[in-house]
Amino acid sequence: MGRLFENRVVIVTGAGGAIGRAAAIGFAKEGASVIVSDLKPDTAHETTELVKQAGGQSIAVCGDISIDAEVQRLVSSAVETFGSLDCAFNNAGITPADDHTWNEDVFRRTFEINLLSQFLCLKYQIPEMLKRGRGAIVNTASIMGLVSAGEPATPAYTSSKHAVIGLTKAAALAYAKQNIRVNVLCPGVVRSAMSEQVMAISEDMRARLMNHAPMGRIAEPEEVAEAAIWLCSDKASFVTGHSMVVDGGFTAQ
Ligand SMILES: NC(=O)c1ccc[n+]([C@@H]2O[C@H](COP(=O)([O-])OP(=O)(O)OC[C@H]3O[C@@H](n4cnc5c(N)ncnc54)[C@H](O)[C@@H]3O)[C@@H](O)[C@H]2O)c1
Repeated sequence: MGRLFENRVVIVTGAGGAIGRAAAIGFAKEGASVIVSDLKPDTAHETTELVKQAGGQSIAVCGDISIDAEVQRLVSSAVETFGSLDCAFNNAGITPADDHTWNEDVFRRTFEINLLSQFLCLKYQIPEMLKRGRGAIVNTASIMGLVSAGEPATPAYTSSKHAVIGLTKAAALAYAKQNIRVNVLCPGVVRSAMSEQVMAISEDMRARLMNHAPMGRIAEPEEVAEAAIWLCSDKASFVTGHSMVVDGGFTAQ
């Protein structure tokens, strides 16, 4: 059987981080050419090398994807280098350490990175997909896009991730007839720099998050990446506007 992403071109944002890197490698193993997007050149280039080792072609395009011109450059680099854009995993995001302070600047910056960046990605990715008459996009929310997950003082993160789900539904409906699918991933706690930043707050927090899910453990980045890869693939051909939880049972409680 052929590989799922043979001759397909995929953008992964936040691909220097844990989930994005796992996805970039996973897409490459299925035959994709991968555009690695991240703010940090060092980790982006590391991912590019790992993608090549996995058998994929890859370039890194580094920049702040909350800025319109940077996202435009990201998408045009993909098309100029590989000829088209088939799929995108819009995964970059932050969890601000000082969310609990109800600071307006923190709130605005969180929305710029977690929500505006995904809006800008859709703005530039969808026209390229329309040219080819098909496409698949996976945005990234969190279980905190669905519930507050027992975290009472995360107004910016929780509301930005709720909004990503709304943005995804709006885009999915707008382009359903044009064969462009848009879905959103809602992970629980995943082993990454982001979750480590939160767990480092206290031993109590670490114990709580490690045992957050009924499965009694946190997710490995690859377990979340697999869901994004499936949603982008033709195997999910009738799935659009869907919020997929990958949370070890947390939201089933
Ligand atoms: N780790 C978790 O427990 C968890 C849980 C639910 C949802 N998520 C979501 O999954 C996504 C990936 O998280 P992760 O755990 O891999 O985190 P991570 O910190 O390992 O990776 C995030 C990446 O995004 C990049 N990034 C941040 N701001 C950027 C910007 N302005 N422009 C370009 N790149 C930028 C960072 O440099 C980093 O490499 C995020 O959207 C996050 O909210 C993570």
